[in-house]
Amino acid sequence: MINTLVKVRNIIIRTIYITVLKPILFTFDPEKVHDMFINVGRIIGSNPITRALNAFAFGYSNKKLEQKILGIKFKNPIGLAAGFDKDAKIIKSMKSTGFGYTEIGSITGEPCEGNPKPRLWRLKKSKGLIVYYGLKNEGAEKIAKKLKNKKFNIPMGVSIAKTNCKATATTQKGIEDYAKAFKVLHDFGDYFTINISCPNAHGGLPFTSKEKLEKLLDELGKTPTEKPIFLKLAPDLSHKEIDEIIEVADNHKIDGFICTNLTKDRGNASIKQHIKDADPVSHGGISGKPIRDLSTKVIKHVYKKTKGEYIIIGCGGVFGAKDAYEKIKAGASLIQLITGMIFEGPQTISEINLGLVKLLEKDGYKNISEAVGKNN
Ligand SMILES: Cc1cc2nc3c(=O)[nH]c(=O)nc-3n(C[C@H](O)[C@H](O)[C@H](O)COP(=O)(O)O)c2cc1C
Repeated sequence: MINTLVKVRNIIIRTIYITVLKPILFTFDPEKVHDMFINVGRIIGSNPITRALNAFAFGYSNKKLEQKILGIKFKNPIGLAAGFDKDAKIIKSMKSTGFGYTEIGSITGEPCEGNPKPRLWRLKKSKGLIVYYGLKNEGAEKIAKKLKNKKFNIPMGVSIAKTNCKATATTQKGIEDYAKAFKVLHDFGDYFTINISCPNAHGGLPFTSKEKLEKLLDELGKTPTEKPIFLKLAPDLSHKEIDEIIEVADNHKIDGFICTNLTKDRGNASIKQHIKDADPVSHGGISGKPIRDLSTKVIKHVYKKTKGEYIIIGCGGVFGAKDAYEKIKAGASLIQLITGMIFEGPQTISEINLGLVKLLEKDGYKNISEAVGKNN
Protein backbone atom coordinates (compact mmCIF):
# COMPACT_ATOMS: atom_id res chain seq x y z
CA MET A 1 0.00 0.00 0.00
CA ILE A 2 2.75 2.48 1.07
CA ASN A 3 4.80 1.53 -1.98
CA THR A 4 1.84 2.24 -4.29
CA LEU A 5 1.25 5.65 -2.70
CA VAL A 6 4.95 6.52 -2.99
CA LYS A 7 4.90 5.40 -6.64
CA VAL A 8 1.91 7.64 -7.44
CA ARG A 9 3.49 10.57 -5.59
CA ASN A 10 6.73 10.09 -7.53
CA ILE A 11 4.91 9.98 -10.88
CA ILE A 12 3.18 13.29 -10.07
CA ILE A 13 6.43 15.00 -9.02
CA ARG A 14 8.33 13.57 -12.01
CA THR A 15 5.67 14.87 -14.41
CA ILE A 16 5.83 18.35 -12.90
CA TYR A 17 9.64 18.35 -12.97
CA ILE A 18 10.04 17.07 -16.54
CA THR A 19 7.24 19.05 -18.17
CA VAL A 20 7.32 22.35 -16.24
CA LEU A 21 10.36 22.88 -13.99
CA LYS A 22 13.19 21.36 -16.03
CA PRO A 23 12.40 23.21 -19.30
CA ILE A 24 12.53 26.48 -17.33
CA LEU A 25 15.65 25.60 -15.29
CA PHE A 26 17.52 24.41 -18.38
CA THR A 27 17.21 27.87 -19.99
CA PHE A 28 19.43 29.33 -17.21
CA ASP A 29 23.19 29.09 -16.71
CA PRO A 30 23.87 25.68 -15.04
CA GLU A 31 26.05 27.12 -12.26
CA LYS A 32 23.33 29.69 -11.36
CA VAL A 33 20.79 26.85 -11.13
CA HIS A 34 23.22 24.84 -8.99
CA ASP A 35 23.63 27.84 -6.63
CA MET A 36 19.87 28.29 -6.50
CA PHE A 37 19.34 24.65 -5.46
CA ILE A 38 21.96 25.07 -2.74
CA ASN A 39 19.92 28.01 -1.40
CA VAL A 40 16.69 26.01 -1.59
CA GLY A 41 18.42 23.12 0.22
CA ARG A 42 19.59 25.50 2.93
CA ILE A 43 16.07 26.78 3.50
CA ILE A 44 14.63 23.25 3.57
CA GLY A 45 17.26 22.12 6.05
CA SER A 46 16.84 25.14 8.31
CA ASN A 47 13.72 24.08 10.23
CA PRO A 48 11.68 20.99 11.13
CA ILE A 49 8.56 22.08 9.21
CA THR A 50 10.30 22.48 5.84
CA ARG A 51 12.17 19.22 6.49
CA ALA A 52 8.89 17.40 7.23
CA LEU A 53 7.24 18.79 4.08
CA ASN A 54 10.28 17.78 2.05
CA ALA A 55 10.17 14.26 3.51
CA PHE A 56 6.47 14.07 2.60
CA ALA A 57 7.37 14.88 -1.02
CA PHE A 58 10.58 12.83 -1.36
CA GLY A 59 11.00 10.38 1.55
CA TYR A 60 10.91 6.60 1.35
CA SER A 61 12.26 3.91 3.66
CA ASN A 62 12.37 0.15 3.58
CA LYS A 63 14.21 -2.32 5.85
CA LYS A 64 15.52 -4.20 2.79
CA LEU A 65 17.67 -1.18 1.94
CA GLU A 66 19.30 -0.76 5.36
CA GLN A 67 22.93 -1.78 5.85
CA LYS A 68 25.68 -1.39 8.42
CA ILE A 69 28.95 -0.86 6.57
CA LEU A 70 32.30 -0.21 8.26
CA GLY A 71 30.38 0.64 11.44
CA ILE A 72 28.11 3.21 9.74
CA LYS A 73 24.33 2.69 9.55
CA PHE A 74 22.90 3.54 6.13
CA LYS A 75 19.08 3.79 5.82
CA ASN A 76 19.40 3.31 2.06
CA PRO A 77 22.33 2.94 -0.38
CA ILE A 78 21.83 6.17 -2.36
CA GLY A 79 24.13 9.08 -1.52
CA LEU A 80 24.82 12.53 -2.92
CA ALA A 81 28.20 12.48 -4.68
CA ALA A 82 30.97 15.00 -3.93
CA GLY A 83 30.78 18.24 -5.87
CA PHE A 84 27.15 19.23 -5.33
CA ASP A 85 27.41 20.34 -1.69
CA LYS A 86 30.97 21.62 -1.97
CA ASP A 87 30.85 23.89 1.10
CA ALA A 88 28.69 21.76 3.43
CA LYS A 89 25.60 23.96 3.17
CA ILE A 90 22.74 21.50 2.68
CA ILE A 91 23.56 18.49 4.89
CA LYS A 92 20.44 19.03 6.99
CA SER A 93 18.10 18.69 4.01
CA MET A 94 19.63 15.48 2.64
CA LYS A 95 17.71 12.91 4.71
CA SER A 96 14.32 14.46 3.92
CA THR A 97 15.23 14.49 0.20
CA GLY A 98 15.47 10.70 0.43
CA PHE A 99 19.24 10.19 0.57
CA GLY A 100 20.82 7.49 2.74
CA TYR A 101 24.05 9.51 3.13
CA THR A 102 25.85 12.53 1.72
CA GLU A 103 29.39 13.55 0.82
CA ILE A 104 30.62 17.14 1.16
CA GLY A 105 33.48 18.71 -0.79
CA SER A 106 35.86 18.18 -2.34
CA ILE A 107 37.51 20.40 0.27
CA THR A 108 41.08 21.61 -0.07
CA GLY A 109 43.54 22.75 2.59
CA GLU A 110 43.56 26.32 1.35
CA PRO A 111 40.43 28.03 -0.03
CA CYS A 112 40.09 27.66 -3.79
CA GLU A 113 38.26 29.98 -6.20
CA GLY A 114 38.20 27.38 -8.92
CA ASN A 115 38.46 28.05 -12.64
CA PRO A 116 37.05 31.20 -14.29
CA LYS A 117 33.36 31.03 -15.32
CA PRO A 118 31.68 29.54 -17.31
CA ARG A 119 32.65 26.17 -15.81
CA LEU A 120 29.56 23.97 -16.05
CA TRP A 121 27.71 22.93 -19.23
CA ARG A 122 24.80 20.60 -20.01
CA LEU A 123 25.01 17.88 -22.64
CA LYS A 124 21.25 17.78 -23.07
CA LYS A 125 20.97 14.96 -25.59
CA SER A 126 23.64 12.79 -23.97
CA LYS A 127 22.25 13.42 -20.46
CA GLY A 128 25.60 14.46 -19.06
CA LEU A 129 27.40 17.53 -17.74
CA ILE A 130 30.79 19.00 -18.51
CA VAL A 131 32.34 20.07 -15.22
CA TYR A 132 35.23 22.51 -15.03
CA TYR A 133 34.73 23.95 -11.54
CA GLY A 134 38.40 23.33 -10.67
CA LEU A 135 37.74 22.42 -7.02
CA LYS A 136 35.97 25.64 -6.07
CA ASN A 137 35.44 25.54 -2.29
CA GLU A 138 35.74 27.69 0.84
CA GLY A 139 38.71 25.76 2.21
CA ALA A 140 39.09 23.40 5.18
CA GLU A 141 39.25 26.00 7.99
CA LYS A 142 36.07 27.87 7.07
CA ILE A 143 34.14 24.65 6.53
CA ALA A 144 35.43 23.17 9.83
CA LYS A 145 34.11 26.27 11.65
CA LYS A 146 30.73 25.73 10.05
CA LEU A 147 30.60 22.07 11.08
CA LYS A 148 31.81 22.60 14.66
CA ASN A 149 29.34 21.41 17.33
CA LYS A 150 26.76 20.47 14.69
CA LYS A 151 25.02 17.10 14.68
CA PHE A 152 23.56 15.63 11.54
CA ASN A 153 20.83 13.01 11.09
CA ILE A 154 22.53 11.30 8.16
CA PRO A 155 25.95 9.68 7.57
CA MET A 156 28.33 12.17 6.00
CA GLY A 157 31.51 11.66 4.04
CA VAL A 158 34.17 14.35 3.73
CA SER A 159 35.96 14.48 0.38
CA ILE A 160 39.40 16.06 0.44
CA ALA A 161 41.58 17.19 -2.45
CA LYS A 162 44.44 19.54 -3.20
CA THR A 163 43.93 23.14 -4.27
CA ASN A 164 43.76 23.62 -8.01
CA CYS A 165 46.51 26.19 -8.49
CA LYS A 166 50.12 26.47 -9.56
CA ALA A 167 51.25 26.79 -5.94
CA THR A 168 50.23 23.19 -5.16
CA ALA A 169 51.16 21.65 -8.51
CA THR A 170 54.37 20.08 -7.13
CA THR A 171 54.04 16.72 -5.35
CA GLN A 172 55.24 18.08 -2.01
CA LYS A 173 52.99 21.17 -2.00
CA GLY A 174 50.06 19.09 -3.18
CA ILE A 175 50.56 16.60 -0.35
CA GLU A 176 50.78 19.44 2.18
CA ASP A 177 47.45 20.79 0.98
CA TYR A 178 45.70 17.38 1.22
CA ALA A 179 47.28 16.89 4.66
CA LYS A 180 46.06 20.26 5.88
CA ALA A 181 42.49 19.48 4.77
CA PHE A 182 42.66 16.09 6.50
CA LYS A 183 44.10 17.48 9.73
CA VAL A 184 41.62 20.34 9.97
CA LEU A 185 38.60 18.18 9.12
CA HIS A 186 39.46 14.85 10.74
CA ASP A 187 36.99 15.35 13.62
CA PHE A 188 34.03 15.79 11.26
CA GLY A 189 31.91 13.33 9.33
CA ASP A 190 31.66 9.54 9.30
CA TYR A 191 34.13 8.67 6.55
CA PHE A 192 36.75 10.34 4.35
CA THR A 193 37.32 10.25 0.62
CA ILE A 194 40.67 11.10 -0.86
CA ASN A 195 39.93 12.51 -4.27
CA ILE A 196 42.85 11.51 -6.47
CA SER A 197 40.80 11.78 -9.65
CA CYS A 198 39.71 15.39 -10.17
CA PRO A 199 40.04 15.84 -13.95
CA ASN A 200 40.45 19.61 -13.53
CA ALA A 201 43.41 19.72 -11.14
CA HIS A 202 46.44 21.76 -12.12
CA GLY A 203 49.13 19.36 -13.33
CA GLY A 204 46.75 16.43 -14.11
CA LEU A 205 46.22 13.40 -11.85
CA PRO A 206 49.56 13.24 -10.04
CA PHE A 207 48.57 10.91 -7.20
CA THR A 208 47.58 7.96 -9.32
CA SER A 209 51.20 6.85 -9.71
CA LYS A 210 52.37 4.29 -7.16
CA GLU A 211 55.21 6.30 -5.62
CA LYS A 212 53.27 9.55 -5.29
CA LEU A 213 50.21 7.85 -3.84
CA GLU A 214 52.47 6.07 -1.30
CA LYS A 215 53.89 9.45 -0.28
CA LEU A 216 50.44 11.02 0.00
CA LEU A 217 49.01 8.17 2.10
CA ASP A 218 52.13 8.06 4.31
CA GLU A 219 51.66 11.75 5.06
CA LEU A 220 47.91 11.45 5.70
CA GLY A 221 48.66 8.48 7.98
CA LYS A 222 50.36 10.90 10.37
CA THR A 223 46.87 12.10 11.35
CA PRO A 224 45.47 8.89 12.85
CA THR A 225 41.78 8.18 12.40
CA GLU A 226 39.43 5.30 13.13
CA LYS A 227 37.07 6.48 10.40
CA PRO A 228 36.86 4.63 7.08
CA ILE A 229 38.86 6.09 4.20
CA PHE A 230 37.95 5.74 0.52
CA LEU A 231 40.04 6.48 -2.55
CA LYS A 232 38.11 7.99 -5.45
CA LEU A 233 39.22 6.64 -8.80
CA ALA A 234 38.99 8.08 -12.31
CA PRO A 235 37.15 6.05 -14.95
CA ASP A 236 40.07 6.63 -17.32
CA LEU A 237 42.62 4.52 -15.43
CA SER A 238 43.96 1.37 -17.07
CA HIS A 239 43.63 -1.96 -15.21
CA LYS A 240 47.38 -1.81 -14.58
CA GLU A 241 47.10 1.61 -12.96
CA ILE A 242 44.13 0.48 -10.85
CA ASP A 243 46.01 -2.65 -9.74
CA GLU A 244 48.94 -0.50 -8.62
CA ILE A 245 46.62 1.76 -6.65
CA ILE A 246 45.12 -1.34 -4.98
CA GLU A 247 48.63 -2.53 -4.09
CA VAL A 248 49.32 0.80 -2.38
CA ALA A 249 45.93 0.66 -0.64
CA ASP A 250 46.78 -2.82 0.71
CA ASN A 251 49.69 -1.27 2.62
CA HIS A 252 47.76 1.67 4.06
CA LYS A 253 44.58 2.37 5.99
CA ILE A 254 42.23 2.35 3.03
CA ASP A 255 38.79 0.78 3.45
CA GLY A 256 37.26 1.21 0.04
CA PHE A 257 37.07 2.79 -3.38
CA ILE A 258 34.66 5.17 -5.06
CA CYS A 259 34.28 4.14 -8.69
CA THR A 260 34.25 6.67 -10.34
CA ASN A 261 34.83 10.36 -10.85
CA LEU A 262 34.26 12.28 -14.13
CA THR A 263 35.97 11.22 -17.35
CA LYS A 264 38.52 13.36 -19.09
CA ASP A 265 39.07 10.93 -21.93
CA ARG A 266 36.66 12.01 -24.67
CA GLY A 267 38.51 9.89 -27.21
CA ASN A 268 37.54 6.66 -25.40
CA ALA A 269 35.18 4.69 -27.66
CA SER A 270 32.98 3.80 -24.68
CA ILE A 271 32.44 7.54 -24.01
CA LYS A 272 32.29 8.62 -27.66
CA GLN A 273 29.37 6.35 -28.50
CA HIS A 274 27.23 8.04 -25.83
CA ILE A 275 28.00 11.66 -26.77
CA LYS A 276 25.20 12.98 -28.93
CA ASP A 277 25.81 16.73 -28.44
CA ALA A 278 28.37 18.96 -30.09
CA ASP A 279 31.07 19.65 -27.45
CA PRO A 280 30.57 23.17 -26.06
CA VAL A 281 34.20 23.15 -24.82
CA SER A 282 37.21 20.88 -25.12
CA HIS A 283 38.19 21.03 -21.42
CA GLY A 284 36.49 19.71 -18.26
CA GLY A 285 35.29 16.29 -17.14
CA ILE A 286 32.11 14.54 -18.27
CA SER A 287 29.49 13.09 -15.90
CA GLY A 288 26.19 11.28 -16.34
CA LYS A 289 25.01 8.69 -18.86
CA PRO A 290 28.17 8.78 -21.01
CA ILE A 291 30.26 7.41 -18.08
CA ARG A 292 27.74 4.87 -16.75
CA ASP A 293 29.21 1.75 -18.37
CA LEU A 294 32.81 2.80 -17.90
CA SER A 295 32.33 3.30 -14.15
CA THR A 296 30.53 -0.06 -13.85
CA LYS A 297 33.52 -1.71 -15.56
CA VAL A 298 35.85 -0.15 -12.97
CA ILE A 299 33.62 -1.45 -10.15
CA LYS A 300 33.72 -4.96 -11.64
CA HIS A 301 37.48 -4.86 -11.99
CA VAL A 302 38.12 -3.59 -8.45
CA TYR A 303 35.65 -6.10 -6.94
CA LYS A 304 37.24 -9.05 -8.77
CA LYS A 305 40.79 -7.94 -8.14
CA THR A 306 40.22 -7.41 -4.40
CA LYS A 307 37.87 -10.41 -4.04
CA GLY A 308 35.30 -8.15 -2.46
CA GLU A 309 37.59 -7.23 0.44
CA TYR A 310 37.14 -3.50 -0.03
CA ILE A 311 33.86 -1.60 0.15
CA ILE A 312 32.98 -0.10 -3.22
CA ILE A 313 30.81 2.97 -3.76
CA GLY A 314 29.49 2.96 -7.33
CA CYS A 315 29.13 6.36 -8.99
CA GLY A 316 28.58 7.53 -12.55
CA GLY A 317 25.47 7.77 -14.71
CA VAL A 318 22.94 6.40 -12.24
CA PHE A 319 19.55 7.63 -13.48
CA GLY A 320 17.28 4.86 -12.22
CA ALA A 321 16.99 1.67 -10.17
CA LYS A 322 18.32 -0.54 -12.99
CA ASP A 323 21.53 1.53 -13.25
CA ALA A 324 22.01 1.35 -9.48
CA TYR A 325 21.29 -2.40 -9.33
CA GLU A 326 23.75 -3.09 -12.14
CA LYS A 327 26.48 -1.35 -10.13
CA ILE A 328 25.47 -3.19 -6.94
CA LYS A 329 25.58 -6.55 -8.71
CA ALA A 330 28.98 -5.58 -10.16
CA GLY A 331 30.29 -5.14 -6.59
CA ALA A 332 29.14 -1.80 -5.17
CA SER A 333 27.66 -1.74 -1.65
CA LEU A 334 26.61 1.89 -1.94
CA ILE A 335 25.77 4.27 -4.80
CA GLN A 336 26.29 7.99 -5.36
CA LEU A 337 24.84 10.35 -7.94
CA ILE A 338 24.43 13.96 -9.06
CA THR A 339 23.63 14.14 -12.77
CA GLY A 340 20.65 11.75 -12.70
CA MET A 341 18.96 13.97 -10.12
CA ILE A 342 19.51 17.07 -12.29
CA PHE A 343 18.11 15.48 -15.46
CA GLU A 344 15.30 13.41 -13.92
CA GLY A 345 14.31 15.43 -10.83
CA PRO A 346 14.82 15.13 -7.06
CA GLN A 347 12.22 12.34 -6.75
CA THR A 348 14.79 10.16 -8.57
CA ILE A 349 16.31 9.13 -5.22
CA SER A 350 13.06 7.70 -3.92
CA GLU A 351 12.29 6.19 -7.36
CA ILE A 352 15.64 4.37 -7.26
CA ASN A 353 15.09 3.11 -3.71
CA LEU A 354 11.57 1.93 -4.50
CA GLY A 355 12.80 0.29 -7.71
CA LEU A 356 15.65 -1.42 -5.86
CA VAL A 357 13.19 -3.01 -3.41
CA LYS A 358 11.23 -4.42 -6.37
CA LEU A 359 14.38 -5.77 -8.02
CA LEU A 360 15.55 -7.37 -4.74
CA GLU A 361 12.17 -9.04 -4.26
CA LYS A 362 12.23 -10.31 -7.85
CA ASP A 363 15.64 -11.90 -7.25
CA GLY A 364 14.61 -13.30 -3.86
CA TYR A 365 17.00 -11.21 -1.74
CA LYS A 366 15.95 -10.13 1.74
CA ASN A 367 18.49 -7.31 1.97
CA ILE A 368 20.46 -5.20 -0.51
CA SER A 369 23.75 -6.54 0.87
CA GLU A 370 22.92 -10.00 -0.52
CA ALA A 371 22.99 -8.65 -4.10
CA VAL A 372 26.47 -7.06 -3.85
CA GLY A 373 28.85 -8.54 -6.44
CA LYS A 374 26.40 -11.21 -7.60
CA ASN A 375 27.20 -10.58 -11.29
CA ASN A 376 30.87 -11.42 -10.90
C1 LIG B 1 28.89 19.81 -10.74
C2 LIG B 1 29.81 18.70 -10.34
C3 LIG B 1 30.88 18.96 -9.49
C4 LIG B 1 31.72 17.91 -9.10
N1 LIG B 1 32.75 18.17 -8.21
C5 LIG B 1 33.42 17.11 -7.68
C6 LIG B 1 34.34 17.30 -6.60
O1 LIG B 1 34.56 18.41 -6.13
N2 LIG B 1 34.98 16.20 -6.11
C7 LIG B 1 34.76 14.93 -6.59
O2 LIG B 1 35.33 13.98 -6.08
N3 LIG B 1 33.88 14.74 -7.60
C8 LIG B 1 33.21 15.78 -8.15
N4 LIG B 1 32.30 15.55 -9.14
C9 LIG B 1 32.12 14.19 -9.66
C10 LIG B 1 30.94 13.49 -9.00
O3 LIG B 1 31.16 13.32 -7.62
C11 LIG B 1 30.69 12.11 -9.65
O4 LIG B 1 31.82 11.31 -9.45
C12 LIG B 1 30.41 12.22 -11.14
O5 LIG B 1 29.62 13.34 -11.44
C13 LIG B 1 29.69 10.98 -11.66
O6 LIG B 1 28.42 10.85 -11.08
P1 LIG B 1 27.06 11.31 -11.83
O7 LIG B 1 27.14 10.77 -13.23
O8 LIG B 1 25.96 10.72 -11.03
O9 LIG B 1 27.05 12.79 -11.80
C14 LIG B 1 31.48 16.60 -9.59
C15 LIG B 1 30.42 16.37 -10.46
C16 LIG B 1 29.58 17.39 -10.83
C17 LIG B 1 28.43 17.07 -11.77
